[in-house]
Amino acid sequence: MTSQSPMPEQSPHPKPRILAIVGSLRRQSLNRQMAEYVVAQLSDRADAEILNWRDVPLFNQDDERPTPAAVTRVREQVAKSDALWIFAPEYNHGVPGPLKNLIDWLSRPLDDGSPAVIIGKTATVSGVGGSSCARYSHGALLPTFDFLQMHIVPAAFTSMSFTRTMFTTSTLNLDEANKASLENQATALLADLEKQAQNL
Ligand SMILES: Cc1cc2nc3c(=O)[nH]c(=O)nc-3n(C[C@H](O)[C@H](O)[C@H](O)COP(=O)(O)O)c2cc1C
Repeated sequence: MTSQSPMPEQSPHPKPRILAIVGSLRRQSLNRQMAEYVVAQLSDRADAEILNWRDVPLFNQDDERPTPAAVTRVREQVAKSDALWIFAPEYNHGVPGPLKNLIDWLSRPLDDGSPAVIIGKTATVSGVGGSSCARYSHGALLPTFDFLQMHIVPAAFTSMSFTRTMFTTSTLNLDEANKASLENQATALLADLEKQAQNL
């Protein structure tokens, strides 16, 4: 009987790392609740977490170097993620200022001259807004993403408006259509990342 060499140990297929960015800093944010729902839904299929960026300062070119510690931290988290899932509300038919401020920090080259961490990043967008369902905000993100050469997952963004009850209770209530839309986005995002991994 010939002795068989042991099978080489297979390293487990790494789960994709998805970083959720919530574009509202308020404590009872409906967008944060949507992000929490998605992170829970992804738990078996991805390493998903919500970025804490509330200490990122207002962008000012005078304060870029040395890079503020909070900015370094969020840049590192974005750099090690495979994709961003942005949960954006809408302010005055546009992108909330704090979220745009964060993107601007992420768009700048690093101290060592290496490219900005957001360049080329895969992303998708969802969100809760008022009567326009945050669609102006989501639409306004697109030229910025295009300029930053980001790859937008080919799936419809989930955009919903809060109901009166959600407004008064500050509790997100996703209906079946919203849940199906978020699942469609999740499936498309994971398939996209899998395709990228195969082509490496
Ligand atoms: C300053 C401000 C401007 C807003 N403008 C819009 C708007 O133009 N369109 C819209 O659909 N909702 C608008 N809203 C409603 C927010 O999108 C909505 O309250 C959303 O739930 C806020 O997100 P959050 O719950 O995650 O904080 C506005 C809210 C604020 C505070």
